[in-house]
Amino acid sequence: MLRRHFLRAAAGLAAGAALAAPIAAQAQEPFKIGLILPMTGQSSSTGRQIEAAVKLYMAQKGDVVAGRKIEVIVKDDTGSADITKRLAQELVVNDKANVIAGFGLTPLALAAAPIATQAKTPMIVMAAGTAIITEASPFIARTSFTLPQFTAPMAEWAARNGIKKVVTLVSDYAPGLDSAKTFKEVFTAAGGQVLDELRTPLRSPDFSPFLQKARDLKPDALFLFVPSGQGAQLIKQTAEREFDKAGIKIIATGDVTDDDQLNDMGDVVLGMVNSHHYSAAHDSPENKAYVAAFKAANKFRPNFMSVGGYDGMHLIYEALKKTGGKGDGAALVEAMKGMAWTSPRGPISIDPRTRDIIQNVYIRRVARGADGELYNMEFETVPNVKDPVKEAKK
Ligand code: PHB
Repeated sequence: MLRRHFLRAAAGLAAGAALAAPIAAQAQEPFKIGLILPMTGQSSSTGRQIEAAVKLYMAQKGDVVAGRKIEVIVKDDTGSADITKRLAQELVVNDKANVIAGFGLTPLALAAAPIATQAKTPMIVMAAGTAIITEASPFIARTSFTLPQFTAPMAEWAARNGIKKVVTLVSDYAPGLDSAKTFKEVFTAAGGQVLDELRTPLRSPDFSPFLQKARDLKPDALFLFVPSGQGAQLIKQTAEREFDKAGIKIIATGDVTDDDQLNDMGDVVLGMVNSHHYSAAHDSPENKAYVAAFKAANKFRPNFMSVGGYDGMHLIYEALKKTGGKGDGAALVEAMKGMAWTSPRGPISIDPRTRDIIQNVYIRRVARGADGELYNMEFETVPNVKDPVKEAKK
């Protein structure tokens, strides 16, 4: 490293003394990560979880990678796509960010994607989950999840477990539509029937009229998806309708039984089956260490958004090691393709073809843990799941 640096500096001197200074200075420049998150507003728990995980990763692994000092610049987009876009632009133009990361909701990720392409800056999607996001720029890699990825196993489980008729109820925006569509395709292919597909507004939703409609249709089960942060309210309103008394099961994606809010939901959520890629109760040495360190550093426990941030930092650190500290955007994205490691959630990798995450999906049941808290207890594993939407396009 030192020798290479010396040779480059010497070459600069040979070519002309004026060149030597900028080359030497370049090697010292910090590597900047612009972290754009909803720190306020309806999705602020996503921002809080990811920021905490990024800080934890850096506290554990240090802030120098391949000779470059890592600098994280956190920006609050409040959950507004216009602000995300402006912040992404400012970060790449004014701050000369080497990577942009975060993106708490699909519309926010899609707003930033053209800027990543234009500036040839890697964009790490740590939260948003609509399948098409990675196709919006060749500079995107994703460490979160896709909705179809964990919805398909839920539909398969339902079909295998005596559920024949389902009503789906999802938030009315891209990830919700991805989830409802996947559920219907997989469930009907397995012989099930979807009686109705209900959509609730993303902003300040009142779920009651939709829940009443679902109950009136008398399905065997109601399938739910809302984004992280809305689960507690949805579950509260679901409990008021007493679906259990009508013999209707509630199934969901794990976004609903989010570890961040699960303890606020109370006993009504006990026994609820759902599918997801991360649980704070995931039984592995890596996750036990992660949860313990996260709780020691914060006053709350980690949820699935946090691991998107933690693993996103790992992807950036390891790619920068591979390029030997070079911040070139295309080289960094190349280095990310095919990267595989053990996350707190289990084994994961970045699909070299799609730059999307490949990970296990777990079927879980809500239960009380030994510490008295509510957890999603994993009881089935579907290993190494790729995004089914992009697999179908192959
Ligand atoms: C999204 O907007 O892509 C999104 C946000 C939160 C979730 C899932 C998807 O829990």
